[in-house]
Amino acid sequence: MLLCLTPAEMQAACRSLRASGRTIGLVPTMGALHAGHLSLVAAAQGQCDIVAASIFVNPTQFGPTEDYAAYPRTFDEDFQKLAAAGVHALFAPSAEGMYPPGTTTSVDPGELGNRLDGASRPGHFRGVATIVARLFHIVQPDRAYFGQKDAAQIAVLRRMVRDLNFPIHLVACPIVREPDGLALSSRNRYLSIDERRRAGVLSRALATAESLAHNGETSAEVLRAALLATLATDPLLRLDYAAVVDPDTLLPLAETSHGALLAVAAWIGGTRLIDNLLLPPRA
Ligand code: PAJ
Repeated sequence: MLLCLTPAEMQAACRSLRASGRTIGLVPTMGALHAGHLSLVAAAQGQCDIVAASIFVNPTQFGPTEDYAAYPRTFDEDFQKLAAAGVHALFAPSAEGMYPPGTTTSVDPGELGNRLDGASRPGHFRGVATIVARLFHIVQPDRAYFGQKDAAQIAVLRRMVRDLNFPIHLVACPIVREPDGLALSSRNRYLSIDERRRAGVLSRALATAESLAHNGETSAEVLRAALLATLATDPLLRLDYAAVVDPDTLLPLAETSHGALLAVAAWIGGTRLIDNLLLPPRA
């Protein structure tokens, strides 16, 4: 696996990897890799000639009181996992290399960036859109792979690709879960044993709402009440949001027969967890 540490190196490497018309799939990550990240690599391998990945804990998407400094950094293990998975090129720049003094340009996702996680994490999606736009320019992939786990991120990036005419196909991959339903996340390692046990309530809340929907319920209010009722079974959980929204605009829906995104975010102890479920349009 080719390791590139600067934007210029990665740009040059991707230019030659792309020679003779080979297609490139990009998997952007912040490292601390788990089976969710590796599922994106596998999807890219199935659809592209060359797979490129990035590991960069992007400072501009963390708020001043968030876990940028504490975010797990496990480069050696991550490198081994990606090499073993058959990734061709890994981009792992330094923060100074990506944001040299004097860097001022950013990508503003507009109002969409202030919804769901964007409401409680001001500036988060501007940071995400900016770094992903830059990764797209450096790698120039044909396809880029993201997890449905971060549903609002997908909405923001889809809109960015459309609004800024990136010639890139975004692929949203299914959420990989633990046996009890907890969505894999690099932040799960922050949980104590007791918090880890409690964390299953997020996916249980979604499953409860989903079974109502399967039985014909289309009222967003009823589905949201079901989410809240299950989440309330853990009195120590601190809710950020429980929402029934349009998956593209992230705006609240009144009813779900044309499809909906059920999304939850909550603090378990000091750890903020998110999860979601896409309800398909009713036939
Ligand atoms: P990170 O949290 O490392 O996630 C990298 C990718 O893995 C994202 O697309 C995320 O949705 C996906 N992912 C995480 N957990 C998953 C799971 N359980 N199942 C499936 N996919 C999962 O998201 C980011 O990094 C950053 O915001 C980034 C896009 C790299 C920009 O800095």
